[in-house]
Amino acid sequence: MEALINFFVALHIIGIGALLGGFMTQMKVMGAGEARIVPAMLHGALTMLVTGVLLVGFNEMDDQAVNNVKIAVKLAVLVVILVLVYVKRDEEKLPAPLFGTVGLLTIANILIATMW
Ligand code: HEM
Repeated sequence: MEALINFFVALHIIGIGALLGGFMTQMKVMGAGEARIVPAMLHGALTMLVTGVLLVGFNEMDDQAVNNVKIAVKLAVLVVILVLVYVKRDEEKLPAPLFGTVGLLTIANILIATMW
């Protein structure tokens, strides 16, 4: 079970890479209001949700304590990210504050995951 959990943590990290990496590819044009949601961001956010929920289940099955408050906060922040990237996925030019919010929320979730 430990190997399975570690493997899904790896997939979870790949999801963050896609979400944050996709955001970073757009940072240069973000200031000009020309950033767009790239597919990697939507796929990364979905990967975070699926692997995160599975990780909670695997940890419960393994009788490992899960910090439910921390998970609930991460889930709430990710739901906002998911709604934004899903609804705006076909818009070719997003205002910088809106696009920047996705990056800030992603970084917030990374800090919550690592520092809480
Ligand atoms: C953008 C959103 C998210 C980010 C950036 C993120 C980040 C991370 C990181 C860096 C880790 C490894 C460090 C650690 O073990 O705490 C982790 C682990 C984990 N995450 Fe997430 N996460 C996100 C969303 C979620 C969601 C939505 C859930 C559940 C619904 C979730 C559940 C978990 C669980 C259960 C672990 C493993 C904890 C353990 O085995 O000790 N994550 N996450």
